[in-house]
Amino acid sequence: MKIIHLTDTHFGYTGQKIYQRSPKNALEKAVESINLEHGDADMLIITGDLAHAGHPEAYANLQSTLSQLSIPYHLVIGNHDDRPTLSKTFSTFEFDENGFAQKCIQTEQGLFILLDTVKEGTHAGYYCEKRFDWLKTQLEANAGQSVYLFMHHAPFDTGIPAMDAISLDKTHSLQLGELLDHYSNVKHIFFGHYHRPIAGQWRGIAFSTLRGMNHQVRLDLHDKHMIQGNFEEPQYCVVLLENDRTLVHYHDYMYETEEFEIGNPLEAHI
Ligand SMILES: [Fe+2]
Repeated sequence: MKIIHLTDTHFGYTGQKIYQRSPKNALEKAVESINLEHGDADMLIITGDLAHAGHPEAYANLQSTLSQLSIPYHLVIGNHDDRPTLSKTFSTFEFDENGFAQKCIQTEQGLFILLDTVKEGTHAGYYCEKRFDWLKTQLEANAGQSVYLFMHHAPFDTGIPAMDAISLDKTHSLQLGELLDHYSNVKHIFFGHYHRPIAGQWRGIAFSTLRGMNHQVRLDLHDKHMIQGNFEEPQYCVVLLENDRTLVHYHDYMYETEEFEIGNPLEAHI
């Protein structure tokens, strides 16, 4: 099964530049690239910060751009998003019984669980008891199949201290970790928020995140007080999910480079 993971679109109102850049332009090019190269993917999932400041026009612009996609898409909420405005624009946006933007998607490869880690008024992540109980119920009911989690904030430190300061609440991360320790069927956590390509494992669960559509976070493992940005190229991930492996291919789709033939892999060459 093939899916596309993309994150942090940070859309603004019409014509608005975010840090002097146009996130709409970057997403339009991503949509073109996905349609051309990966139209056989089952879906696209965007892991939050859909808008830069939750503006209604930003969501309308995002919806308009995503309407050009040839594959279905699903959205995760991020700290820059506004839950009520988001739900008004995207009529298909689903909520759990407590009004949080959490849902499950049953796929041929297992269950995708999309989590809501947003708390109004803070950029840090939050996972309250109600959301936690909802997740616990989903995990208990689906212990017999592979589970993949999609969320905005990571439930662990990434080593970039200025971003870790607005990671998922430490107590909630610990609770989540202790819950996930009981489930060997949770295969991978896909998240956004960090605007950088980062992959590894946490408590035995593989994870990956990637650059955003507009602006990026510089690799700075020292600065605790300021999030340092840059304009490395946006990317999306082509994710191949199989029974025995998960493959995450990072695609810097806007990077222009000369292309050439290296050689036939089955022929001996120097
Ligand atoms: Fe973001």
